[in-house]
Amino acid sequence: MGGQSSKSVHEFIVKDAKGNDVNLSQYKGKVLLIVNVASQCGYTDQHYAEMAQLYEKYKDQGLEILAFPCNQFGAQEPGTNEEIQELACNRFKAKYPLFAKIDVNGQKQTPLYKYLKSSKSGLFRESIKWNFTKFLVDKQGNVVGRFTPENTPPGIEKDIKKLLGVASTNE
Ligand SMILES: *[C@@H]1O[C@H](CO)[C@@H](O)[C@H](O)[C@H]1NC(C)=O
Ligand SMILES: *[C@@H]1O[C@H](CO)[C@@H](O)[C@H](O)[C@H]1NC(C)=O
Repeated sequence: MGGQSSKSVHEFIVKDAKGNDVNLSQYKGKVLLIVNVASQCGYTDQHYAEMAQLYEKYKDQGLEILAFPCNQFGAQEPGTNEEIQELACNRFKAKYPLFAKIDVNGQKQTPLYKYLKSSKSGLFRESIKWNFTKFLVDKQGNVVGRFTPENTPPGIEKDIKKLLGVASTNE
């Protein structure tokens, strides 16, 4: 078995949509929702819109959503990085960072995803079987949750609030 590893999400470097390195250590102290997205599939409108809402609601409390376009699922993400960025930013008013296109499975999978999957295979098979798999990462960079596309963003809001330390009672 893979066993424990001392790595954290903060030790990875990824590329942004323009091809620049992004050192994920800059997200220390933030709760992260890492999601692989496809722009041309049934869940897309709803998911982008709901993620944008979550982000608006909790960004001041320390939530960041990191979106990675991926076209390994029936070539549903065929655009260039710039086209994808434009779609996410303009059409859905998403303000969270969108990174360069990646592979989430197979030989060319990005090291971050290899780590995410091995940290949180749990009941799931290791590979990402579907677009919009979401990983929840705590402020220390530990992967604490993995959600299938059927867990829509409002459904995981409770877990996000817990990690952020946002009280769920009325204020
Ligand atoms: C990422 O940033 C951290 C903190 O500044 C630094 O310690 C680390 O070496 C950087 N990682 C890489 C691979 O550059
Ligand atoms: C996501 O990927 C799957 C697997 O290829 C595909 O069949 C599906 O249409 C895509 N969209 C949704 C909404 O799941």
